[in-house]
Parts: sequence; structure tokens; C-alpha cells
Amino acid sequence: MKAAVVDRAGGIPQLRDLPDPVPREGEVLIAVEAVAVENVDRAIVAGTHYTAAAFQAALPAIPCFDGVGRLPDGTLVGFGGLQPPHGALAQFVTVPAAYAPPIPEGIEPTAAVVLASAISAMCMRVAAGLEEGETVLVQGATGVAGRLAVQVARLLGAGRIVATGRDDAALADLQRLGADEVISTAVTDDELVDAYRRHRGDGYDVVVDYLWGRPTEMLARALTPESFVMPKPTRLVHVGESAGSSIRLSGDALRTSGLEIYGAARNLATGMQAAYAQVVEWIRSGDLVIDVTTMPLSRISEAWQRTDLRGSRLVIVPD
Ligand SMILES: NC(=O)c1ccc[n+]([C@@H]2O[C@H](COP(=O)([O-])OP(=O)(O)OC[C@H]3O[C@@H](n4cnc5c(N)ncnc54)[C@H](OP(=O)(O)O)[C@@H]3O)[C@@H](O)[C@H]2O)c1
Repeated sequence: MKAAVVDRAGGIPQLRDLPDPVPREGEVLIAVEAVAVENVDRAIVAGTHYTAAAFQAALPAIPCFDGVGRLPDGTLVGFGGLQPPHGALAQFVTVPAAYAPPIPEGIEPTAAVVLASAISAMCMRVAAGLEEGETVLVQGATGVAGRLAVQVARLLGAGRIVATGRDDAALADLQRLGADEVISTAVTDDELVDAYRRHRGDGYDVVVDYLWGRPTEMLARALTPESFVMPKPTRLVHVGESAGSSIRLSGDALRTSGLEIYGAARNLATGMQAAYAQVVEWIRSGDLVIDVTTMPLSRISEAWQRTDLRGSRLVIVPD
């Protein structure tokens, strides 16, 4: 079979011929139909992700560890649970049968492979308990996950949606997706604090945070009152760290701001099934649109090096 192989840390995947995998007992053979290339996959290959050690130890190895494909009987399934050096950027994979659940009918493989990013946006309801009419702030809204979160906020009935990003053209496009107001984070710290304050209206009820780092520090500053008042709570859900893996949070920002910080996994064990079903329904009905850019496996080296796909998920498909 053809597969994309990385030889060294930080290397570019190269197309190679490898033997077809043979399923062991309890495993299924899957013909791969779609694999999403995400920042986390690039970070694992680069050796900068906290889970990168296993991949680096297994080099040469095939990157990306989940995707969508077909069982020999034609059933479309999602698959995961691959362990380096065996990755998803190949014509075939074998995984334990339990790691290959069927994809609901009516969902294209290229959309199914981005479902996890759409479901991450449901944290605004599952983790933060978003109610209709509340104000949502999406941090990192110009990214793939953030653009989905803006749409999800609209579909969940948010009263006002404020979206942040770095690129003015991409921010303008967010208004088409449902954002009421946008904030550029590509300004000085003081300007950013001021912008968060100007756009807060009667308060941000829920923040879906794909950024962390400096913008979230400035948000915490903006939420901290300058006099003895009791602001209403702001339930911030930390989902990603595109702008930094840590923040400095002063004590007063927690004591007086009303800021409550949750992880995206909060309530997922009980809320995942309903979140998944809702996202699938919206995709089927066309209410939630996932932006993907497909490229064939044979062009993996070129695809891996693309930097122009802001807001669109790179999905590798068979030739
Ligand atoms: N927990 C989950 O289930 C889950 C699911 C999906 C994503 N995530 C995480 O969420 C984050 C976003 O994922 P994604 O797929 O949407 O990535 P993406 O498409 O690359 O988008 C990243 C977003 O962050 C912005 N950004 C990047 N670097 C920044 C910086 N230094 N300062 C300010 N803004 C910056 C980007 O702005 P530009 O548009 O200007 O580049 C964009 O809005 C990642 O950390 C990802 O791992 C988590």
C-alpha cells in the first residue's frame, strides 16, 4: 500500500510503498477514505506536543491517528486507537473492532472526519450550560474549530456572539457565519483589554476559548472590575491553546471578576451522546457547515507544508 512516512523529528511525510497491514484477531481492516491533518498532528511530528515521545521513539512512522474509512463489507466507520509507527495517512489501517464505530448515514467522510472539532464547540452547552439569549465570546474564532463554534453558538440560540481573531478579512467573514461583533487580538495589550471591555455589553456569559495565552490573560484583566462591584459570572471553557500553553492569572481576576474556568471535558461523559447527535443533525440538515480542503494522499508532502488554509481543515483523501 501507499503510506506517508516521517523519517525524523520535524520531517515532512513522504509517500512510500509499505506492505498492506494484516488484521490480527479482534481487529478489522479499513480502507482509509479521509484523514484530517490538525495542528496537534503537526506538533507530534515536530516533537513539540506533550504526547510526541511515542511517535518520535517509533520513527520512521506514519502520522495522524484517526480517520474515516470503509470495512470490507462497505460500512463507513470512524477509526482511532492507532499506535505509532502505524498512523492513518495510508491506504489501509487495522484497528481493534471496538475502535471502528459506524458513521451515521448522510454524513460525507470528509465532514465526518472533522466531527470532533464541531463537537468541541458543544462545550458551550455541555461544560458551561449555555442558555438561549446569553452572550458568547469565541476566542480564536477564525480557526477551523472557532468558525464552527460561532455557528454552534448561533444554532444554540445565543443572544449575542462576539468573536476574536488576528486577521481583519477573516474576522469580517465571521459576521456572515453569525458573529454580531468582532475583536482583533492583533493589537497592544492595553488596546485588547479596552476592546474586550467595549464589546462586553452586560457581560460575557460564556467564553469558548481556543487561544489561551496572551489574549486570555487580557480577557481576565478586562473582566476584573476597578471598583467594588459584583460582576455577573463569566463561564470560560478552555478548549485549545493556539496562543500559548499557559496564562498568568492574578488573584484579583478570580476573586472579583466573576470568572469561572472549566475544561472542555467537563460533563462530557454524560453530555457527549446528545452533543454528537445534535451536531450530526445540524450537518445533515446543512445548518452547520464544515469547511474542508481535500488533497490526495499522493500529494501528502505538498499538503503537509500548506500554510494558506486558515479556517479550512486539510483532509487527505485517497487518489
Ligand atoms: N479539545 C478539543 O476537542 C479540540 C477540538 C478542536 C480544536 N482544539 C484545539 O483548539 C485550538 C484551535 O484549533 P483549530 O483546529 O481551530 O486551529 P486553527 O484552525 O489553526 O485555528 C487557530 C486559531 O487561533 C488563532 N491563533 C493562532 N496562533 C495565535 C496567536 N499566537 N495569537 C492569537 N491567535 C492565534 C488563529 O488565528 P488566525 O486565523 O489568524 O491564524 C485561529 O483563530 C488548538 O489548540 C486545538 O488543538 C481542541
